[in-house]
Amino acid sequence: MADGRPASPARAGVPARPGMSWSPELEARYAELGARLEPLLPCLEWPLHLPWIDAIRPLKRERGAGIMAHSYQSPEIFHGVADVTGDSLALARAAADCDAQLIVLAGVHFMAESAKILAPDKTVLIPDLEAGCSLAASITAADVRGLRERHPGAPVVSYVNTSAEVKAESDACCTSANATRVVEAMAAASGSSKVIFLPDRFLGHHVAQQTGIDLVLWDGRCEVHEQFTAQQARHARERFDAKLVAHPECPPDVQDEADFVGSTTAMGAWLEREQPSRVALITECSMADNLRARFPKTEFIKPCNLCPHMQRITLPNIHACLQELKHEVVVPPEIAARARTALERMLAVGRHDRA
Ligand code: 13P
Ligand code: SF4
Repeated sequence: MADGRPASPARAGVPARPGMSWSPELEARYAELGARLEPLLPCLEWPLHLPWIDAIRPLKRERGAGIMAHSYQSPEIFHGVADVTGDSLALARAAADCDAQLIVLAGVHFMAESAKILAPDKTVLIPDLEAGCSLAASITAADVRGLRERHPGAPVVSYVNTSAEVKAESDACCTSANATRVVEAMAAASGSSKVIFLPDRFLGHHVAQQTGIDLVLWDGRCEVHEQFTAQQARHARERFDAKLVAHPECPPDVQDEADFVGSTTAMGAWLEREQPSRVALITECSMADNLRARFPKTEFIKPCNLCPHMQRITLPNIHACLQELKHEVVVPPEIAARARTALERMLAVGRHDRA
């Protein structure tokens, strides 16, 4: 992309598969989508994406599949082929509630595992099994058992950005959209003065600040959000006179600079409410692109920190996933049963809009 987005296979000029090529007729058929994506993609990319979009749409219908795309997916996926879009909480709910028996999770591996755990009778595919997450990789089930031994009686709340094995060792899961409420609920239910919160240290800092609850933290970090600095945030405010909106996975001094700190969905709700003329989104770059389409009157000062794991998902590998019915995400039933309890506690708490 013009803003430095690394080339996906389609962008890098990998030829469209035989039988799929751009034509003026195809472009005319997708004129409405093309107009929506025009501000988000360099026009040179559109002819590369369009044949894939045109091939994926009928194939997903033929397969009876639902494509769920996280807000950090590239615009051509998010707007072009997804049936459900949203943050990790919305996708977890949709997996459980949707009618499709086949789910393609255009997101990272922990999201596909959550979908499988909540919808065990459905087939869940992920276009690239290597789409991981630095937070999920930062902690193991044995680490959680160690924390429990060191802090007996303290409930364990784990961010959904964890493996199924870690979820199975946890009392409840949360996302950035409901972390505060889940922690408050678990502290109240357990009667413990402290809560083990893992693995994101910076989200933990935010939750501790919001709740005043003593949290035992792990040193996990999001490799994308930890890169933002307070100096960058101040620069965006002073140089561009922009409002600052930050994800709670950012370092605490960045959060302190922000006008609003909140989850992926809460950021969208804040923009809806405040309608700022100019905003700097201190979060993943594709997320800013996807919000830009929703708020055309707001000028976005875009960061360009892309999640390398999310970027592994492309139109060509979504197509291959549907065509060849690969790669299935499997969670051993015993792990899934325990992890489901933790996820269902999260869903019972629901979303809240403070974070
Ligand atoms: P959300 O829970 O806001 O969807 O974020 C997930 C994530 O991976 C953020 O980096
Ligand atoms: Fe994980 Fe960060 Fe990527 Fe989200 S943005 S999936 S937390 S590495």
